[in-house]
Amino acid sequence: MKLFDRRKPIQALQSQHVEGGLRRSLGWPHLVALGVGAIVGTGIYTLIGEGADKAGPAVLLSFGIAGLVCVFAGLAYAELASMMPAAGSAYAYSYAALGETIAWVVGWSLILEYSVVCSAVAVGWSGYAVGFLEAANVHLPHALVAGPHAGGVINLPAVIIVAMVAGLLAIGTRESAAVNAVLVVIKITALLAFIAVAAPHFDFAHFQPFAPYGFGAVEDGDIKRGVMAAAAIIFFAFYGFDAVSTAAEEAKRPERDLPIGILGSMVICVILYIAVAATAVGALPFEQFAKSKEPLAHILRTLQQPWLAGVVGLAAVIAMPTVILAFLYGQSRIFFAMARDGLLPQRLAVVNKRTGSPLLMTGLTAIAVAGIAAFFPLGEIAALANAGTLCAFIAVGAALMALRLHEPSRARPYRAPLAFLVGTATILGCAYLFISLQGRTIVYFFLWNGVGLAIYWLFARRASVLGKAKRA
Ligand code: ALA
Repeated sequence: MKLFDRRKPIQALQSQHVEGGLRRSLGWPHLVALGVGAIVGTGIYTLIGEGADKAGPAVLLSFGIAGLVCVFAGLAYAELASMMPAAGSAYAYSYAALGETIAWVVGWSLILEYSVVCSAVAVGWSGYAVGFLEAANVHLPHALVAGPHAGGVINLPAVIIVAMVAGLLAIGTRESAAVNAVLVVIKITALLAFIAVAAPHFDFAHFQPFAPYGFGAVEDGDIKRGVMAAAAIIFFAFYGFDAVSTAAEEAKRPERDLPIGILGSMVICVILYIAVAATAVGALPFEQFAKSKEPLAHILRTLQQPWLAGVVGLAAVIAMPTVILAFLYGQSRIFFAMARDGLLPQRLAVVNKRTGSPLLMTGLTAIAVAGIAAFFPLGEIAALANAGTLCAFIAVGAALMALRLHEPSRARPYRAPLAFLVGTATILGCAYLFISLQGRTIVYFFLWNGVGLAIYWLFARRASVLGKAKRA
């Protein structure tokens, strides 16, 4: 059947690691830092407000549900990444397990995810940066700090931060990873400080009524509300561990370092988030911070802690760019993997000899990312990124089970426990989150993939290296 034909031999993915074009410079501490750096960002710092707006205090449950789905997906990723340490993550796994067409859809969805995540984080960053400046009595013209949807012209701070991070990446992986590690410590410390200072204000009365908008996602005007609608957006806060797997070809000992990087960063963040969300809702009635562009700083200011609000705002400003760093990095690797397979123009995959990075790809991606961040609202961008990610996670759940069936005896340096349960839970959990997204997000997602499939059938399928080898 054409839909599942052209499966890439797993040996091909493994030998790419041995012969590969990218430099192997990352150990497991780098990878945990890369994971935490990619996970902790706009989701916990900003979208916590949007989640509370959709679910009320039950946003806590939304965090639990989205986190649980990501733990299942993380287990599947860890097994596949250790088995196939090749750049390209879910795209590469799908190629081996489910064939080229599905791999294309996953790769095309990942392009959407990685780019749009960077745009969303840049917009979140801009919210904290502008809030911080306002608190310091520096007022920028509204036209330059908001897109047209919010009565402005362009979100210039968001554009500037994307350009700066792209420059950092262009310097080279090792240097960027070292900077990343320092920034990760800063943003985690800020979240712990938030918990320590806001926790004494905890009041159980703020949890009543717990779920004012119910459980399932239901349309309410032009948005969806309910615990699941919030979970579908809060899901944004948890991913990033998948970016670790895109660094597979640069890991020193992928079979050990990748599972530690993926699962370690995931577990740290699930625990931290639940604590932050419980503290936020306990400290203040959710309506008071739901609409803020910088909810954590806003809560602290309301609790008469302006100094710490400034510190948390500054930490977000300094450290949130690590998320953009990780996803821009991941994005260029997805392109790299797809181009190397002949599915995208191969000259895009040229690796710069001095920095070990695909420079042209990084630059092109940065321009697209900055363009989206400049003009679109955060909630819409984040929801679209989630749709792309959910699609990739569903494929990873399916790939885990397919390879257990097709390749039962192949070496798995890391084996996920109860693989069929984990695979099924990943697929069902992600599908439930997907249908809980806004209707228009789902439509945009299918439009994007409709265009993608047209490109695949018209051009990419013919240019595919694997396809050519099969024809020869
Ligand atoms: N998890 C990342 C964030 O919250 C994408 O910013």
